[in-house]
Amino acid sequence: MPSSASRGIGLELVRQLLESPANLVVAACRSPETATTLGELNTTSKGNLHTVKLDVSDSDSVRAAVKEMEPILGETGLDYLINNAAIAEGGNAFALNPDVLMRTFRTNVVGPALVSQAFLPFLEKSEKKTILNISSSGGSLAIAPQVGTRNTSYAISKAALNMLTYKQKVERPDITSITMCPGWTKTDMGGQDAMLEPKESVAGILKVITAVTTADSGKFLRYNGEEVPW
Ligand SMILES: NC(=O)c1ccc[n+]([C@@H]2O[C@H](COP(=O)([O-])OP(=O)(O)OC[C@H]3O[C@@H](n4cnc5c(N)ncnc54)[C@H](OP(=O)(O)O)[C@@H]3O)[C@@H](O)[C@H]2O)c1
Repeated sequence: MPSSASRGIGLELVRQLLESPANLVVAACRSPETATTLGELNTTSKGNLHTVKLDVSDSDSVRAAVKEMEPILGETGLDYLINNAAIAEGGNAFALNPDVLMRTFRTNVVGPALVSQAFLPFLEKSEKKTILNISSSGGSLAIAPQVGTRNTSYAISKAALNMLTYKQKVERPDITSITMCPGWTKTDMGGQDAMLEPKESVAGILKVITAVTTADSGKFLRYNGEEVPW
């Protein structure tokens, strides 16, 4: 279940997951009525795609999504929760707009924390019990010198998401929680100069995530399975 499936990497996740008819896919997005490509996938799917309204920054919306998913996942549970939704706004350390920082933190950190918490009962019923937090190498201290001064709010939020992942692993050893950089990818966020097409990034993400076990929990991985230095 990707937490944001209207466009970019989330939409491509849905597309590739639907290639296997055995998958039951729940695509969450904050405005299903305007997510036209997702709507087209819904029309062509073989009944194995459900679209759920979810704004990860709004706790009422998270609670409502759980209710909406109850009849879909109540029996089977949820194998993979993919916390993909994020925003990236600019800002340097000594010129941070506090509203931007708070908004970024709310979407990129509080969102995945809340969604993981609220969907835990679905994960507990499943076999795989896997949370994938889509992070960024921009949240790595080791890589920060190459990134320089830009995107400070975003980098702070992804570093925090990495720590959330580690805390999830420590608290629940029965759950596999992974934090992952999808690579620099051609989306609205990554821009058209990016290195990867969404389909390459997502093919890698799915290969890695379907192979991980609890022994990998807490790892910070790249879309190609390499470890990212913290
Ligand atoms: N692209 C890259 O190069 C790159 C690199 C490193 C990490 N990442 C990470 O990869 C993930 C996906 O990025 P992307 O490139 O696909 O970005 P994108 O094209 O900008 O798409 C962002 C997605 O997040 C959704 N979203 C934002 N706020 C939301 C909220 N409050 N509730 C629900 N959905 C929300 C958007 O929904 P709406 O359509 O409703 O706005 C959209 O579907 C993010 O976590 C990002 O940080 C991307």
